[in-house]
Amino acid sequence: MALRMAFAGVGYIARVHAKAAKAIEDVDLVAAVNHRNETLDAFADEFGIPRRYTRIEDMLADGDVDAVIVSTPNYLHAPQTIAALEAGVHVMVEKPMAMNAPEAEEMVEAGERSGALLMVAHCWRFDREVLWLKEQVDAGRIGRIVRTTGYGVHVHWGPGGWFTEKRFAGGGSLADMGIHAIDTARFLLGDPEPVSVYARVGTYFGDYDVDDTDVMIIQWDNGAFSYIESGWWQPHSDGPEAATRLFGTEGYGSVLPTLLELPNRKEKRVEVVESGFRFPREDHGDQRMYDEQMRYFVESVRIGRKPVPGGDEGLVNMRIVDAAYESARTNRVVEIKT
Ligand SMILES: NC(=O)c1ccc[n+]([C@@H]2O[C@H](COP(=O)([O-])OP(=O)(O)OC[C@H]3O[C@@H](n4cnc5c(N)ncnc54)[C@H](O)[C@@H]3O)[C@@H](O)[C@H]2O)c1
Repeated sequence: MALRMAFAGVGYIARVHAKAAKAIEDVDLVAAVNHRNETLDAFADEFGIPRRYTRIEDMLADGDVDAVIVSTPNYLHAPQTIAALEAGVHVMVEKPMAMNAPEAEEMVEAGERSGALLMVAHCWRFDREVLWLKEQVDAGRIGRIVRTTGYGVHVHWGPGGWFTEKRFAGGGSLADMGIHAIDTARFLLGDPEPVSVYARVGTYFGDYDVDDTDVMIIQWDNGAFSYIESGWWQPHSDGPEAATRLFGTEGYGSVLPTLLELPNRKEKRVEVVESGFRFPREDHGDQRMYDEQMRYFVESVRIGRKPVPGGDEGLVNMRIVDAAYESARTNRVVEIKT
C-alpha cells in the first residue's frame, strides 16, 4: 500500500521535501497543513494534495495519514511533532528540532511512548560529498581526528520574518545555521558525545532579538574538539554552509571543497586526494541531498527502522545549542550532562 504523506508548513523547505516525496513511487501526498489559506492552496495545488487543513489536530483527527513532514517555524516543531507521534503518525521534523533541549526531550519521549518513528532533518548527513569524506575517515585515511573546524555562515545575506524573532525561532544564526555545522562535524567524528561548550555570540547586523554572529568550541568525549563559526550577514566565511575541515594524526580531510591531503613525511611531500566533486557547486543546497534524505525516511517507515539522524541526534544538537547560549550569557565553559 502507498505511504500516505502529509506536510505541516508549506514554505521554502516544504517545497523541497514535497518534490523529493513526489519522486518516490508508492508515496501519496495526501494532506497539507498551514495557518494561511492562500499559501496552503498554492502549495497543495502545485503538488496535487487533496486534503487541506489550518490545524494539524484536525488532520490527525481525520486519520488516514502515515507520516508527516514538519517544516513550520521552530516554535511549532515540538507541539506538531508530539501531536503526530501521539496519533501514531511517523514524523520527519526540520532542524533545529525544537526551541531548546527540554522540548526536544519531550519529543523523543513522545516517540518512545507511541512507537511511531521520529527523524530529524539534519540533511547534510545525506550529502554525497559529506558521505565521501565519511568513507575516507572510516577507512582510517587521516588517522585519528584531533580537531575540526566548521561553518554555518550566510555571507552578505540573512533571513527575515519569524527567523529573527526569538519567540518563534528560539535562537538566531547559531540555532539556524550553526546547527548544520555542529551536526556535520559530529557525524564525521562518528557521533561522539559533547562534554562541554564555550561560545561567544552577538547581534551586529540587524534590529532583532536573536544572534547573528557566533563562534564556539565543543569538546567531545573522544578527545577531539570542534571550532564552529555561524552567522548571518557576515562579510566573509572561510567555507560555505556545512563546510567542515578535519585535522587528523595522519592527514587532513575537507568537505566543500572535498579532498584529502595526506603528508608523506619521509619523502617530504603531500599527496592530494581529489574527490572529483566540483567546487564551488552550482547549487549549494542541492535537491539531491534532500531526495536522499526523503528516501531514507520513507524506507525507515517501510521497514520500521529507527532513523539516524533521529530524535537522539537532534537532541544532542539542541543540548549543544543551549549550552552555547548559556556559555555566551555566563562567560563560562558549560558542561553538558546527558
Ligand atoms: N535543512 C535545511 O536545509 C533547511 C532549509 C530551510 C529551512 N529549514 C528549516 O525548516 C523550517 C521552515 O523553514 P522555511 O525556510 O521553510 O520557512 P518558511 O517561512 O518559508 O516556511 C514556514 C511555513 O510555516 C508556516 N507558518 C508560519 N507560521 C505558522 C503558524 N503560526 N502556524 C502554522 N504554520 C505557520 C508558513 O506559512 C510557511 O508555510 C525551519 O525550522 C527551518 O530552520 C531547513
